[in-house]
Amino acid sequence: MDKKKAVLHIGDQKIDFDILSGTLGYDVIDVSSLSKHDYFTYDPGFLSTAACESKITYIDGEKGILLYRGYPIDQLAKHSTFLEVCYLLLNGELPSKEQYAEFSKAVTHHSLIHEQIRNFFNGFRRDAHPMAVMVGVVGALSAFYHDRLDIKNPEHRKTCALRLVAKMPTIAAMCYKYSIGQPFMPPQNRLSYAGNYLHMMFATPCEETVPNPVLVRALDRIFILHADHEQNASTSTVRLAGSTGANPYACISAGIGALWGPAHGGANEAVLNMLHEIGDVSKIDKFIARAKNPKDSFRLMGFGHRVYKNYDPRAKVMRETCHEVLEALGAHNDPIFKLAMALEKIALEDDYFVEKKLYPNVDFYSGITLSALGIPTNMFTVIFALARTIGWVAHWNEMISSPYRLGRPRQLYTGPTERPYVVINNRP
Ligand code: SDX
Repeated sequence: MDKKKAVLHIGDQKIDFDILSGTLGYDVIDVSSLSKHDYFTYDPGFLSTAACESKITYIDGEKGILLYRGYPIDQLAKHSTFLEVCYLLLNGELPSKEQYAEFSKAVTHHSLIHEQIRNFFNGFRRDAHPMAVMVGVVGALSAFYHDRLDIKNPEHRKTCALRLVAKMPTIAAMCYKYSIGQPFMPPQNRLSYAGNYLHMMFATPCEETVPNPVLVRALDRIFILHADHEQNASTSTVRLAGSTGANPYACISAGIGALWGPAHGGANEAVLNMLHEIGDVSKIDKFIARAKNPKDSFRLMGFGHRVYKNYDPRAKVMRETCHEVLEALGAHNDPIFKLAMALEKIALEDDYFVEKKLYPNVDFYSGITLSALGIPTNMFTVIFALARTIGWVAHWNEMISSPYRLGRPRQLYTGPTERPYVVINNRP
């Protein structure tokens, strides 16, 4: 069948482009040859740009659909585990029982970190934001694990993936323990991935603790919901860093930095800070008015999304999980939760938010749930980074394992035209 074509007429120029189709979603116009005609495309914020081809995650923003390797997010959240989702995202298929057992064992046995890495923490202030620590410690991992860094070797890439998925919870929990002056708790191979994280976060050497199974299940589901999300800002950062041939630890560290921003993964922390700033249901209208005021930079944190112009499918599951956790903890009367529910109701009925299709996103509910789990607010984005590591690694691996080019965007230049240098004594 002949390829579909797009034709661009500029003056007397007629430029043909191929139109490429995927298995789902929009067709794309391959404009890679446009620069030969002395033009660039212009798309700040990449609202209409497909930067790559991928088989990992599909999002339909209009219909509120999210698929990991074709499986709907609500089914994975209900029936799967985070480690099984990690296997799926990395390998493309759900594992057999044997494959799952082997993968789980491999992750479990990579969860320890090199003892020297403890020294990194001592260089930080105790009140350092844990995301600053994560960027530093994860970026330094290549200094400890340089034995398998040949990114062209699939086995080395697999080991890097296992090490990153396995060690992120250990490092994340160490960030928390360091901030409160408690001893680091080593991972326990007898525990599940999420159970191990809660253990390393909240256990102390003074007594044995068994994480609450309801909370463990809720946290595992939160990890699943945050595992991947197509070409979001932090994943695109990891891909761009990876396209230079940088080692995977440096690429993931770059992704952590990008995720930190409040417009992206930092939103869950910003949601809680916003709710505390609102403080009382009587103040909601004032903040809604601020969010609607074009002259006010205030945004309603946890609302809106670049892609979802319908309800974020993760938010639906996150909302249910939030209720489950609050029920299990008898915290339904939590004033912050009640304030959040009131804000959600008002925003969903407000014409401004309805017209602009600003729905609650996953971050609106994840922050409240993590808070109920006893996770401090400044650790919310750390948990997002912990979960998203598998997505970042899967995209990095997908790119490196097939032909790719260095990512190097161009620009629309509006600066000064060429002018001769003037020595300082001749300047006004
Ligand atoms: C994540 O990309 C991903 O997939 C990200 C993520 C992932 O899993 O990786 O899903 C995770 O980052 C979720 C989003 C978390 N961020 C927040 O909750 C922060 C609050 N949201 C906004 O900052 C905003 O909605 C963005 C950044 C998420 C999306 O912004 P866009 O797509 O650049 O849209 P925009 O800022 O141009 O807004 C369009 C209009 C504007 O009004 P006009 O200029 O057209 O008049 O909607 C308004 C905005 O003012 N608007 C909001 C708003 N979000 C958009 N107004 C008030 N409150 C908001 N939250």
